Amino acid sequence: MLISSKEIKLKNGKSIVLKSPAPDDAQNLLNHLKNLFNQSYQNMNHPKNSWDNFSIEEEAKILVDFASSSSKFMISSFDGERIIGNLGCFGVGGDFLKFNARIAMGLQKEFHNVGLGTSLLNYAIESAKQNKIHRLELTVRTFNEGGIALYEKVGFRRIGLLREIAFIDGVFYDEYMYEMILGR
Ligand SMILES: CC(C)(COP(=O)(O)OP(=O)(O)OC[C@H]1O[C@@H](n2cnc3c(N)ncnc32)[C@H](O)[C@@H]1OP(=O)(O)O)[C@@H](O)C(=O)NCCC(=O)NCCS
Repeated sequence: MLISSKEIKLKNGKSIVLKSPAPDDAQNLLNHLKNLFNQSYQNMNHPKNSWDNFSIEEEAKILVDFASSSSKFMISSFDGERIIGNLGCFGVGGDFLKFNARIAMGLQKEFHNVGLGTSLLNYAIESAKQNKIHRLELTVRTFNEGGIALYEKVGFRRIGLLREIAFIDGVFYDEYMYEMILGR
């Protein structure tokens, strides 16, 4: 799925464009992912250097796959030409589960706490509804105060604790699971 362009204003007055990245944004998106994982890998599902050996061609292939899929989409945040945030909404597989999707997102540190997370996530919820997704879910580590604040602010409901699910730098961490039923 491709999500069309929407302009939003951050709390500091800056204008940002939200839209699906095109295959020729592959390098731009990779730059964002490399920086994001350097800054915030403890909040993500892979180590710091995960994107270092990923090629532009591999990333472009992923973007083509997202664009042609009916069960997933990506929305990037553009500050001018530069991607400074990204959100993925993925189907969770299985015929009976086809109206469910999982969300993952991350922003460059310099864009935290200025309302970008709220705008990007609300646009993803709106886009999911328009594309007939019925239920969204996500997980967040229990130490991720920014993530928890954002998900509760936009209306996700905490439905459980996944104990010691993530193993990072030699330590097990818990995650909360959240869900939102759409179309209500
Ligand atoms: C999690 C993340 C997406 C939040 O995005 P954000 O742009 O900072 O969110 P917003 O600015 O829209 O803030 C949403 C709310 O959370 C609050 N908030 C933000 N950071 C916070 C923090 N560290 N502690 C407590 N509250 C916080 C804000 O005050 C805001 O509430 P308000 O509008 O009532 O003031 C961003 O911090 C991020 O990308 N982090 C690194 C990667 C990551 O953790 N991804 C999520 C993995 S599950």
